[in-house]
Amino acid sequence: MPVKYLETTSCFKHLASAELKRLFSIAKTVRVPANTIIFSKDEAGETFFVVNSGRVKIFTTTATDRTKTLAYLGPGDFFGEMALLGGKVRSASARAEEDSELLVITKANFNRLIKKDGEFTLQLLHTLSERLRKADEEIEALLFHNMLGRLAGAILKLCGEVPPGCEPPGIEMSIQELADYIGTTREPLSRALAMLKRAGMLDYKDRKISIKDIARLRAIAPQHQ
Ligand code: CMP
Repeated sequence: MPVKYLETTSCFKHLASAELKRLFSIAKTVRVPANTIIFSKDEAGETFFVVNSGRVKIFTTTATDRTKTLAYLGPGDFFGEMALLGGKVRSASARAEEDSELLVITKANFNRLIKKDGEFTLQLLHTLSERLRKADEEIEALLFHNMLGRLAGAILKLCGEVPPGCEPPGIEMSIQELADYIGTTREPLSRALAMLKRAGMLDYKDRKISIKDIARLRAIAPQHQ
């Protein structure tokens, strides 16, 4: 019963169940196998997506084939709104990292939701300003912070909010995936990982990063992260 997923989506959780069912009646659910490109940067975009289950990577690639991961999205997150809000073409590419289920909403229905549902629009703006704030922080980190700080900031971002006294979750990622996320290459990243490991702040083994000293990681990460 897909409605239950939408109830936890920030954009939709204010909607009563009957309204959610109506939303579902205007939307389509698609299953996307792992490693499928959902759309590519610069393609014309006519649809808005909500992640019901799975994991989607948003990334951009340069002419020289360098990749920068912009975000990993999970259940309840949405994407594809920028092309509909005046951008026309996709600002980045989207790929399913795991088998995923997506809710697809057409441009006409997305516009209808924006006009008719103030709460939906407010939530959308809230998420967009959060993404802009993170992008600003990342620009600052790229320009002014060294690799150790950027790595510490990226690891903290990837493990999300850690309540006081709780163990930070482990992060599973290859060196290449982490390099794409930070916006660097494997060599400087491997050196920075080894330094943080030697300093006792984290451990890295078999694609798994475990945080050993979150306070010190926070101290060397760029501010706000
Ligand atoms: P659109 O441009 O239609 O297609 C690519 C989508 O990726 C874009 O809409 C946003 O939904 C999403 N996106 C782009 N940049 C970011 C970012 N920095 N963080 C999270 N999502 C993003």
